[in-house]
Amino acid sequence: MAEIRVGNKGHFVVNSGETILEAGLRAGFGFPRACRNGNCGRCAGRLKSGEVRLGNTLLRAEDTGSDQVLYCVATANTDCEIDAAMITAPGELPVASLRCQIAAIQPLNHNVSAVTLRLPAGQKLNWYAGQYLLLGEQQDAAFSIANAATDGGRDILLHIRHDADNLSAVELMTQLQQQSTVATMLPLGNRWIDQAPSQPVWFICGSTGFAPARAMIERLMQLNYSLPVRLFRGGRRVDDIYPPQWSSDPLLTLKDFQEVLAVNEAPMSGQFHGMVHEAAIKALQDPTAPLFHVGGSPAMVWAVFDGLVDAGVPPHHIHSDVFDYAPREPNISG
Ligand code: FES
Repeated sequence: MAEIRVGNKGHFVVNSGETILEAGLRAGFGFPRACRNGNCGRCAGRLKSGEVRLGNTLLRAEDTGSDQVLYCVATANTDCEIDAAMITAPGELPVASLRCQIAAIQPLNHNVSAVTLRLPAGQKLNWYAGQYLLLGEQQDAAFSIANAATDGGRDILLHIRHDADNLSAVELMTQLQQQSTVATMLPLGNRWIDQAPSQPVWFICGSTGFAPARAMIERLMQLNYSLPVRLFRGGRRVDDIYPPQWSSDPLLTLKDFQEVLAVNEAPMSGQFHGMVHEAAIKALQDPTAPLFHVGGSPAMVWAVFDGLVDAGVPPHHIHSDVFDYAPREPNISG
């Protein structure tokens, strides 16, 4: 039995033979994770003190590799402290079920609409930029939150794609247009930006994968983040990308921000011709430098993941909600 301290977020006890991930989840901490068998790299974190066992290998905090400990396969050999950056403490972000007012619905392009939900008056709720919510009476439709939380703010922005490929969303949009309130459950998800990252941040997104990127970029602006931020957005055609040129928005106040639009069919001048992750890989000078957040369909996100890893990006530098709700089976990466 050993004690695991999670930065300033508290501690939990890990039993003999139990992994740090299992014990942490049992104690109510939230960890990024997917495969739970040491293959995907999602749960990697830094051992700040103490000693863990990985199979037959003992690893101390001062050893090489201690910044990428896979908590899903690591057991504690001594009391330890681990980095808390992507771990939530029990009760840190309580999940609430609320009925929100539908404050506005506005088309953003031919198949995406912005839906603004308003929290009940007096209701305080926090979420981390990059998290998502469930919508509807059955709470079976998940949508990323497209804005960062603000002090006293009551509005939650969603981007909903509704077209022939997404008939359940078409039905949902019809319902939202006919009613004044909607049931929600939030916040959910293990991928976010809350504190300023210590490395540049690159966002790669397709369609409404832009929504969580937009929220995280808002959060970076709140933090006066000064390291480079790059936004790569892709679509089959130019009109699949909404809004068409976000980088010209006067509200965008990041100090070092660049946007690249990647289009497969008939790109316009200044746009990259090809897949969105190809644009990012072409711009990549040091694959180990940026932190990546990827948003889009599971197929698109996993294709981007493979492309980035092939280009030399460490898997634990790549984040997406897809890794949590649509994990691939073992051996998805090196
Ligand atoms: S959850 Fe630990 S490596 Fe996949």
